[in-house]
Amino acid sequence: MPPEPSAPPPRPFPAGFVWGAATSAFQVEGAAAQDGKGPSIWDAFCREAGRIADGSSGEVACDHYHRLEEDLDLLAWLGVGAYRFSIAWPRVQPAGSGAVNEPGLAFYDRLVDGLLARGIRPFATLYHWDLPLALQERHGGWRSRETAHRFADYAAIVGRRLGDRVASFATLNEPWVVAVLGHERGVFAPGIADRATAMQVSHHLLLGHGLAVDALRAAGTAAPVGIVLNLSPAHARTTSAEDAAKARLEDGLGARWYLDPLFKGRYPADVLAHLGPDAPAIRDGDLQAIGRPIDFLGVNYYMRTVASAGEPWSPAQAGAAVTDMGWEVYPAGLTELLERLHRDYAPPPLYITENGAAFKDLAAAGAVEDEDRRRYLADHVAAVAEAIARGVDVRGYFVWSLLDNFEWASGYEKRFGIVRVDFATGERTPKRSAHWYRQFIAANGRA
Ligand code: FCB
Repeated sequence: MPPEPSAPPPRPFPAGFVWGAATSAFQVEGAAAQDGKGPSIWDAFCREAGRIADGSSGEVACDHYHRLEEDLDLLAWLGVGAYRFSIAWPRVQPAGSGAVNEPGLAFYDRLVDGLLARGIRPFATLYHWDLPLALQERHGGWRSRETAHRFADYAAIVGRRLGDRVASFATLNEPWVVAVLGHERGVFAPGIADRATAMQVSHHLLLGHGLAVDALRAAGTAAPVGIVLNLSPAHARTTSAEDAAKARLEDGLGARWYLDPLFKGRYPADVLAHLGPDAPAIRDGDLQAIGRPIDFLGVNYYMRTVASAGEPWSPAQAGAAVTDMGWEVYPAGLTELLERLHRDYAPPPLYITENGAAFKDLAAAGAVEDEDRRRYLADHVAAVAEAIARGVDVRGYFVWSLLDNFEWASGYEKRFGIVRVDFATGERTPKRSAHWYRQFIAANGRA
């Protein structure tokens, strides 16, 4: 029989390589106002007319809060070695500072203990975008340095409570998205459109990350501590000098702006020069705090970007295969990205903390056909294997996402899950891609 075009890579993955699945609190939990949870900026954003494509919200989402045991069993069925989830700050501290909400922490206790009971390692992310609304209203959220300090307090609370059982702590998920989509383009919460604000926010996020690293370690956790960035190779559309310069700038704003302070102790000079008056105010000691050594770097990879001097932003090469988000399918970009990180930053161990695709799945009679997603995942896993073969230290891979869920400004219209969720009934149905991943993990060793 001829080999399948995207058969699993023949190369074995290193011993201990972690296969996982990922979600985030706001996108799956629901129970938006239950058991003392405070509102987040995303709860408020969803209530603003026209912000979410289908007018929906995270109020119920996948109802994961109430279906915890079922979802834990699903993870066990899948055979993953780890589950990446996020903790909702407003569930833990409803007002973002001060009083701690015990039932909120108790939920994450149950989640963590339920994972451990099934032999699944808990990978926790502290901030996946659901800032307590009170912090936004009181002093402008991440625009203010205050928020970085409040974030460190919250990290200490979580570290003290869960730090004995969590296998990995990520401080932030994708600070670029929070800064740029939330504060420059205004398409994500809190919906601000001002570049100087966005750049100040990016600095306060990074500062908050650094302070939280110290806070987690001071809380006594033995878990590795790191951060998760969304990274895309930026390619020039043509060989013109203008397009090359645009690609370099996009790489500067999207990648080096975060990687350089984390690993080189400075912001990139060319980007600072480009920003001019929009550059953030930085205080003495900030860069030392941001550059605290970390134990791992999480990489979320979906696509490359193709830069053209004549266009503001373009995620796909003309004519290329794209997902339902319009994002180009480009697995080779993941190998390129991982090698580049290895070469330019000598980073700590890398994890692919998110990779996946939205497609319009064909659901019929208890089965869901998503061959395009299965192939996307298989090809990207092969791209990771290629990077490892070329000497990059990658320790794990997490599919985005375990479940179809609330895809931010796209609402429920874009489905990323390897498990289908019927949002009317809550019913979960593993898609063909989930069956494939399950077999793949079983064959490649569950770490
Ligand atoms: C990433 C987010 C994640 C999900 C995927 C599709 O940017 O971290 O929550 O929305 O994109």
